[in-house]
Amino acid sequence: MNQDIEASPSPKKQISNVTVCSRFRPLNSKERKDHGGQVCVRRIDDETFVFKDEKEEESTFSFDKVFYEDSLQADVYEFIALPIVRDVVNGVNGTIITYGQTGAGKTYSMEGPNVLESDDMKKGLLPRVVDGLFEHLASAGDSIKYEITLSMVEIYMEKVRDLFDLSKDNLVIKQNKGHEMLVSGVTEASVSHVLILRLNLQAGIQNRAVGETQMNLASSRSHCAYIFTVLSDSTRDSRGRTGKLVLVDLAGSEKVEKTGAEGKLLEEAKTINKSLSALGNVINALTCSSSKSNHIPYRDSKLTRLLQDALGGNSRTALICCCSPSTSNSSETFSTLRFGTRAKHIKTSPTAKRIVDAETGARWNAVDVPTKVESVERILAELSERLDDEDVNLLEELLLLERILFDPGTEEDLESGFEDISSPTFNLLQQNLQKLMITCEELKSENKALKARIAAGGTVEGGGEENGSFFMQKVSGIISFFFP
Ligand SMILES: Nc1ncnc2c1ncn2[C@@H]1O[C@H](COP(=O)(O)OP(=O)(O)O)[C@@H](O)[C@H]1O
Ligand SMILES: [Mg+2]
Repeated sequence: MNQDIEASPSPKKQISNVTVCSRFRPLNSKERKDHGGQVCVRRIDDETFVFKDEKEEESTFSFDKVFYEDSLQADVYEFIALPIVRDVVNGVNGTIITYGQTGAGKTYSMEGPNVLESDDMKKGLLPRVVDGLFEHLASAGDSIKYEITLSMVEIYMEKVRDLFDLSKDNLVIKQNKGHEMLVSGVTEASVSHVLILRLNLQAGIQNRAVGETQMNLASSRSHCAYIFTVLSDSTRDSRGRTGKLVLVDLAGSEKVEKTGAEGKLLEEAKTINKSLSALGNVINALTCSSSKSNHIPYRDSKLTRLLQDALGGNSRTALICCCSPSTSNSSETFSTLRFGTRAKHIKTSPTAKRIVDAETGARWNAVDVPTKVESVERILAELSERLDDEDVNLLEELLLLERILFDPGTEEDLESGFEDISSPTFNLLQQNLQKLMITCEELKSENKALKARIAAGGTVEGGGEENGSFFMQKVSGIISFFFP
């Protein structure tokens, strides 16, 4: 037995809000032919199996559920997605992610053979989610009005592309006033019928294929997110709720060496590995509660930024680790299982229900009053709209280093963190961040004026010095405010 391997799989029945399942697809014909149909998995029960690695060493893995080769698409939906669909209709956000090497069954689990598929044996999660959403809405009766919107985006080489409008090929992910991550300017298709919703999905998927040929990319090299928003409006109390459901079909997690990629393909593979490693790093940071100043590196990739709600708390989240059962893929399968084991330790608190005021249209959070750390994060997010990402990262790093800001890994971290941080510090911080924003505005107009002088054929020497000293004066002012 390999001790290291044995230590890492998660113990059975751990309490966690992230549901983690593994799914093994049937062996394909190549695996049957080339490897004599040898498998690396031995079933124990619906939650546990024994995995055999390349050196024939065995380790036991347990997940919330294990779907073996004979599992039904309907079982996957009922266990993973149905509870999330119910929650979304009630205003609680949900996220379902498929992870695994290329060819492991992510898209099959997500879409089935295609999203218009009607065969119940083959239909994937997406068409079932669509049916489920409409069924729940229909059963709610006439007292509640609903609106469903769908957006579809693809993340390829760190660019977010709108799959309903290919001209929007570099969208920005940011936090709204209610601290939710959103894709700014993305097309939101409003859909009132199950078939129209499925046709919209199909159109987005086809656009993905068009983009693939235009850009010479394959779907296995990009991440695809399907974002459903359910807005409900009760006629009884004229208040509404929104629930967001995000399904993410991730790019293949295989290692670069295995694909033998070169040139552009190698660059793509590196970007995928980078964003998937960023995802792994976020999961590690979220599950490592040893350090109080544990920083969660959501900003390291577009993918982790998009999944910030799902991983950081405000979502009921499920992860499907898709695997090949063949011994020929055992090292990739092992790394997928390790990823799932780690994710099992994340704790989220998907309690937020957003309320919409019928008169003003304003939305706010019914149960979560923003914490001070969240307020600081909001200010940082606002700053990020005015400054470069790098500036904000530096500022965040500085605040984290000085323990003015921290990213809580657990609720206990949060509580003990608050004991450490006094209100005056936060008030001072808020005031000074506002001053910083004013300074940025001043610097921008200084810069503009300087550029105008250069354009007009003026000299920059004197002005440059003036500008430099003005800048230094401002920066040292800010620093002395933060750290008197
Ligand atoms: N559970 C399953 N049952 C039957 N066929 C499957 C299953 N999972 C995957 N497949 C088949 O395996 C192949 C690769 O699956 P796919 O979902 O495209 O992989 P990925 O999206 O992970 O790259 C496809 O031909 C798909 O139909
Ligand atoms: Mg796929």
